[in-house]
Amino acid sequence: MKFNLKRILILFISLFVIGSVAIETSVHTVSGDSLHLKDYTNEITNLNEPYKFIKTDYFKPITHLTFTNKPVTRYYQLTLKKVKMSPDGFERTVWSVNGQHPGPLIQANKGDRLVINVTNHFDDPATVHWHGMFQHGTNWYDGVPGQTQCPIPNDVSLVYNFSTTDQHGTYWYHSHFFAQYVDGLRGSLVIHDPDDPYLKQYDFEYLVMLSDWHHNTTGVLLPLQDAPGYSGFRPIPDSPLISGLGRYNCTAAPPGSKCNSDQPLPVYNVKKNKKYRFRIINSAADGVFVFSIDQHKLKVIESEGIYLKPTIIKKLPVAVGQRYSVIVDANQPVGNYFIRGTLDKRCTPNNNATINFNSAIDWDGLGILHYEGAKNSPNSKEFDDDFTPCRDLDKKHLKPIKPITKYDGHVTDFVNITITFGADKNQRLEALINNSSFVPQLNDPTINKITRDIAAKDLPKDQNSVILNHNGGIAEIYVKNDNNADHPFHMHGHVFAIMFVGEKGDVPDESKYNKKNPVVRDTVTIPGNGFLVIRFITDNPGVWAFHCHIEWHVEIGMVMGIIELQDTLKKETIPEDVVALCLEHDLQKRTTRKMLNAIVINEIRSDD
Ligand code: C2O
Ligand code: CU
Repeated sequence: MKFNLKRILILFISLFVIGSVAIETSVHTVSGDSLHLKDYTNEITNLNEPYKFIKTDYFKPITHLTFTNKPVTRYYQLTLKKVKMSPDGFERTVWSVNGQHPGPLIQANKGDRLVINVTNHFDDPATVHWHGMFQHGTNWYDGVPGQTQCPIPNDVSLVYNFSTTDQHGTYWYHSHFFAQYVDGLRGSLVIHDPDDPYLKQYDFEYLVMLSDWHHNTTGVLLPLQDAPGYSGFRPIPDSPLISGLGRYNCTAAPPGSKCNSDQPLPVYNVKKNKKYRFRIINSAADGVFVFSIDQHKLKVIESEGIYLKPTIIKKLPVAVGQRYSVIVDANQPVGNYFIRGTLDKRCTPNNNATINFNSAIDWDGLGILHYEGAKNSPNSKEFDDDFTPCRDLDKKHLKPIKPITKYDGHVTDFVNITITFGADKNQRLEALINNSSFVPQLNDPTINKITRDIAAKDLPKDQNSVILNHNGGIAEIYVKNDNNADHPFHMHGHVFAIMFVGEKGDVPDESKYNKKNPVVRDTVTIPGNGFLVIRFITDNPGVWAFHCHIEWHVEIGMVMGIIELQDTLKKETIPEDVVALCLEHDLQKRTTRKMLNAIVINEIRSDD
């Protein structure tokens, strides 16, 4: 009861504060008078190209795209709309994509172009980030408000248009606007490869999108975490979801809520002696998922677009933002076997000040691997752990199929980063990167500043800029983690090579760096009180977020902006319709109070 009262009070205060803060925000005018707000809904018909509105059944094998001789352009429609859904039996509003959660699968073949019309009917601003896509030459389609674009206002569409050149594998997309993806805006993205060395080794392909799930919206949760004096950890979820399905014990639901405890388990159908590629994506706000299928070992073949030397494991730990492909051989007796998408409780800190600390969550997310013809109900036994808890899958399972040697060269830029937590002057929790907490400037993203010829060194301090100017150079980033928490860090626009992951007590020692055959990926866990050394090639002009993928840490500022090759970037022309979003954003900001719901938290923080 007390808890609820506190929550209501905070919300009230927040709502009161918007009125005064939003008006003060300076209005940035974009130069050029030809700018107008494009109505893309009209233009779609002119383009004469069908933006395909699709839905994806995550429990059916993916329909393969036929490989074409030449790359083609694929058009998709993503319509964002809030709908009532009951992913785990508990009904709440979900920020859906094409009416579903997770959103539909977007797929292409290597080299294809993706043209995706995002129509926002959320009643809130939104963006879509294509997690893992390099966006070479199209930084403004990376979907990061405050860094690469202004948010898409309600009832406005934006066409994202990017090439998939040099990429293949398992990706995903999600909102990057506040914690909106945690409320539902997330989906899968797969780039097929005709030259995939494993193509012949499986018969069917399945998607497994793992996420944690909260019964409260992030509009409720974030102000709680942002309350002065908050001394808990990240909000505890209410259930784990496997491809959007979970279960909840409704006796714990607040009276009056619509809740059904008898949710069916998600079922993946297989045929005896067929082989299945499972593409596993951790799209959670927080938390390490452990994926396994009883009695079926997993052959790991891909991590985040990199083909791996195949190795066999029983259980697959997946940190937030990471993806894997495994091949599963349906070679066991015809039957039903449990699929386990377990949120690893050991990696989720809790205390009794933590939001939803007494959650009725069942951490063991379950699904069923159903063999055609099987009648028995599953009673299979879980494998024992064969991994280190709260750590990434061991590097011995992550060896690229051929060693990737290009990171073993002259380092042109060394960057040192230290991450800690602190409190601002109002005793609100903040994450500090080299002593500075990131605050996005939603109405004037960094890329706009760079193209207006503002030098990267003159960006506001709270943009946490890392400036890299060597075209084709090698940047080495050393991240020292000065706190107990493990942080899964993700870099936009790149994959990176992992030179070393240091545990507490380890000291950096270049002679131990894995330069000859490094693990290469785009999301990596930095151990609590440990460190990380990565390298990447600075060949992609842009403003690239580098951040912890625990959304609750993003929201308190654990974000950096890599400003890469600014001299090239500043010469680029941001498409007119992308720039125009900034005008509209301001217009709405000054006129519509309702849409600011989600902005509240940040405005208060940046007003310090
Ligand atoms: Cu999954 Cu900044 O992204
Ligand atoms: Cu973190």
